[in-house]
Amino acid sequence: MNSSASWQVVCRREELAHSQVIEFTVNETPGFVLAHQGKLTAFVNRCPHLGIELNWMPGRFLDANQSFIQCATHGALFTIDQGQCIVGPCQGDALTVLNTREQDGEVLVRVPA
Ligand code: FES
Repeated sequence: MNSSASWQVVCRREELAHSQVIEFTVNETPGFVLAHQGKLTAFVNRCPHLGIELNWMPGRFLDANQSFIQCATHGALFTIDQGQCIVGPCQGDALTVLNTREQDGEVLVRVPA
């Protein structure tokens, strides 16, 4: 992680109800955050296959069962907790995880500058 990275507020914690995903852009890096089993996880919105954004509709990142993050372009599936690709052209690769924390009801992420 870049030492010049600073924490940025991306949303309020209450906005992250079950299975909801919030998109953000920090330091020109697109990302998204979600709450999974009570734990916050955030990733850079970039598929390791072609380097393009995962979603084609705002806030829509999960598969039909809400069990995995899904790339809309070729259907790769990623685990929600760690972003590991388990099916698809980038199987074995992973999304870039961003540090996340909660403070005073707000969700913060740290993105390299
Ligand atoms: S661009 Fe995501 S699976 Fe191909």
